[in-house]
Amino acid sequence: MSNYHIKHLEEYFQVYRKSVRNPESFWEEIAEEHFVWRKRWNKVLEWDFKKPEIKWFEGAQLNITENCIDRHLSTRSHKTAILFEPNNPKEKSQKITYFQLYERVNQFANVLREQGIQKGDRVCIYLPMIPELAVSLLACARIGAVHSVVFAGFSATALSIRINDSDSKMVITSDGSFRGEKTTDLKGIVDDALEKSPCVKSVLVVKRTNSNIFMKEGRDLWIQPLLDKASKICQMEIMDAEDPLFILYTSGSTGMPKGMLHTIAGYMVYTAYTFKNVFQYREDDVFWCTADIGWITGHSYIVYGPLANGATTVMFEGIPSYPDFGRFWEIIEKHKITQFYTAPTAIRALAKENLEYVEKYDLSSIKVLGTVGEPINEEAWHWYNNNVGKKHSPIVDTWWQTETGGILISPIPFATPTKPTYATLPLPGIQPVIMDKNGKEITENQVDGRLCIKFPWPAIARTIWGNHERYRETYFSTYKKKYFTGDGALRDEVGYYRITGRVDDVIIVSGHNLGTAPIEDAINQHPAVAESAIVGFPHDIKGNALYGFVILKETGESRVHENVRIEINQIIAEHIGPIAKLDKIQFTSGLPKTRSGKIMRRILRKIANNDFNNLGDTTTLLNPEVVQEIIDNAL
Ligand code: WT7
Repeated sequence: MSNYHIKHLEEYFQVYRKSVRNPESFWEEIAEEHFVWRKRWNKVLEWDFKKPEIKWFEGAQLNITENCIDRHLSTRSHKTAILFEPNNPKEKSQKITYFQLYERVNQFANVLREQGIQKGDRVCIYLPMIPELAVSLLACARIGAVHSVVFAGFSATALSIRINDSDSKMVITSDGSFRGEKTTDLKGIVDDALEKSPCVKSVLVVKRTNSNIFMKEGRDLWIQPLLDKASKICQMEIMDAEDPLFILYTSGSTGMPKGMLHTIAGYMVYTAYTFKNVFQYREDDVFWCTADIGWITGHSYIVYGPLANGATTVMFEGIPSYPDFGRFWEIIEKHKITQFYTAPTAIRALAKENLEYVEKYDLSSIKVLGTVGEPINEEAWHWYNNNVGKKHSPIVDTWWQTETGGILISPIPFATPTKPTYATLPLPGIQPVIMDKNGKEITENQVDGRLCIKFPWPAIARTIWGNHERYRETYFSTYKKKYFTGDGALRDEVGYYRITGRVDDVIIVSGHNLGTAPIEDAINQHPAVAESAIVGFPHDIKGNALYGFVILKETGESRVHENVRIEINQIIAEHIGPIAKLDKIQFTSGLPKTRSGKIMRRILRKIANNDFNNLGDTTTLLNPEVVQEIIDNAL
């Protein structure tokens, strides 16, 4: 029996039991057999959830790019590593072999070194989904620099905040990006961001759109001429297992985004292991994850997980609706995709369109389908199963988080029977628990509560960059000696898990994790706004949409209100990005507050859901009269 590749249910249970009985020897065996180490570890695991402190494979040395690239050269040198599918279907797709990837990463890494980037320095990457994005991550890893990718849909302000928090020395960007019909001036956004980010000394620019852009003397450089001159051999930095690999920001329920820090060895072992099992990856498969590398899904299952297994991984630059709603299915046929991994919001959007878009294409290459990012509703699950998987491709509903680094709860295809809307069973090494209101672990089945994990796994984030106390407080203080996920979950009679959604002030809109506090902060900067509160409400395609309750400083004519509505969304787009815009804005004279001044979001949530009946006890409010006014004007 191999721990590494599980093929049927009985094997899953055996491996799972082993992984819980002795986690250290379980992960040690996997690490030993499937990776290249420059020095062996002294200790597999050291952990303390109270402090908190977690270390995997301490004392070991390695370079993750040797594991993702160099070691495949003897057997897979001509195999496609990255298959790039451009936004415009008329532009040719590109196949980058493992050997070409090796040369491109080395050249890129040499350029970074020449530009003064050293081990431990942070490099901010703000690029569209073009091959240079994957190459730049690996180039950083080659020389031990810490990458901090910022999704290229974020605004200048959001970018600047992330650059400053990570204290990045360099930004890697492009002249622009193509998405559907739209061209975005990424370099202009970087220029704006850098006005407030003096820590950045240089900007490397990839040419993509051929737009006419401003290049600042002494700071900005086109990367291509530098790459052309660079050597194709680059001595890798030998790294410690617990050295940082990357920072990736995720929204918190309050304040600043959290820079989740992932370290090298544990992250590598875990993403490689879960990729192989959750997608039942085989040597000649062509794997496509439609996420952007700006999110953790792309880091783990476009770049590191697949490449660590020597797989062919697809990078798609465009959007599902361009040039029409058949684009995903066309790409599946064109590249004979075997595993397809996308978000419920995309499925819902495509399910609304004419079925002919799907039926036109030959999808018979597909073996496994996956979803991630938010709960999948039953209707979308069946649509996906019937029309894309043709009822013979298992759907893996994968639950995980930026913080977890890799998938924690998911079926294993062909082993775990699937059940719509259930992420099903924990992967080997994962020990989920459901907690009740009093902070006690519930051991029976058929319960719901809050989801925690009681034992570390190799890819858990080690800290929040620059703020270990916030890491402790957010994840390890709610429940003693447990990692708190922030999600609610239920466990059915056979032990399957269903994730019911966030229990904090994070709202998942189209699979994007948005904290309400930063959006409220942005709105409150509008000169006419006194105060605001954001809640989520159900939306057919996005899963959730945002509903804002806004108190204006002075009440005026409705014409003025209309303008303020538009301006509020402009401010949000500038401060965070268009993804955080509000679908509904209701002006109100007050917000329901507790006597200690806290906004009662529970009430606002119900009103936004048009559920006016069970508002609970409102008599203890400071201002109970405002509730009726809000109900009367609900949108
Ligand atoms: C939150 C994490 C994991 C990569 C993408 C999102 C929600 C994620 C599922 C799922 C129900 C899910 C959770 C989680 N979520 N996957 N399969 N079923 N909910 O990463 O931005 O860090 O968001 O996404 O609420 O806490 P993220």
